[in-house]
Amino acid sequence: MAERGLTGFDDPTRLAVVVSVDAHFSLKHAVRFLGLGEQCLVPVAVDYNRRMDTASLRATLAELRGSREVVCVVATSGTTSTGSVDPVGEIADITAGLGTWLHIDGAYGLAYKLVPELASLFAGIEHADSVSWDPHKQSGVPIPSSILFVTNPDDFDRVALFSSYWNRADATEPNPGTKSIPSTRPLTALPLVTSIRHQGLDALIQRLRAPIVAIRELYEYLEQQPDFETFHEPDTGILCFRAVPDHVPAERLNELQRHIYTVVLAEGRRTTSISEIDGHTTLRFVAVGPQVTFDAMKRTIEEIRRIVRDFT
Ligand SMILES: Cc1ncc(COP(=O)(O)O)c(C=O)c1O
Repeated sequence: MAERGLTGFDDPTRLAVVVSVDAHFSLKHAVRFLGLGEQCLVPVAVDYNRRMDTASLRATLAELRGSREVVCVVATSGTTSTGSVDPVGEIADITAGLGTWLHIDGAYGLAYKLVPELASLFAGIEHADSVSWDPHKQSGVPIPSSILFVTNPDDFDRVALFSSYWNRADATEPNPGTKSIPSTRPLTALPLVTSIRHQGLDALIQRLRAPIVAIRELYEYLEQQPDFETFHEPDTGILCFRAVPDHVPAERLNELQRHIYTVVLAEGRRTTSISEIDGHTTLRFVAVGPQVTFDAMKRTIEEIRRIVRDFT
């Protein structure tokens, strides 16, 4: 690939990248830039908790055998829509020996591996070939702070390019520019390291844990409310749900959620985001900072109830 690009493959249209249906859209960017095009993406179904369904992964890989060449499987540790963590250990067992690259998109969720009671969600991640992480999402560091880990350090050689005038091969100082596509790089690790040292690891873990606990409490609360419906059990700090009041018919529920979203944002006192799950429009609460408590989110739920009452 480095030397001959796609012409190095007998039939580039056979190349496939397997992802879950909930994978982030940046994977479309990635395959566009690789010259593979979006046609190479093969989606795998998710289970009730929106985690990659491993039976579907097995079936997909079996179906592709002989007709396509799976160059990469991407699992997500913390999906953007629901914060779900794909079962990495099982996925690594399935892909072991297939000669396919296993990448973990931990942009949003990897931080939660630091929280001891959540660490088991990430079991097996060490078997991946690469893992990406965006500390800027919830670790208190400025944007952008993105890190790519590779299990085998020699894999960075695939992106290392040298010249006589810049990034010289005989240079002895560490140089992040030989480990990334842009060559001139700031030392982006510095704010992260400084921030962790300033906060202390325990405080960082507490900061990460607080919104997870709050979202879990919200889930447990909404599960008891007949006028709300949740769409998954939260793995991390995101919950998708919708208001399902008696006076609104099923065919108007998507419209109702969009109305709630628009009014909440227009009023400017509270906030929510919105998502789409299997054709259902949902409200989406994302808790990333320790300020987001269950009580605060419950107050937003009360505002939503008021908006729902006025919906005609
Ligand atoms: C799971 C996941 N992957 C990738 C990205 C993209 O990260 P970035 O914004 O750093 O490109 C995001 C951003 O929200 C994400 O949630």
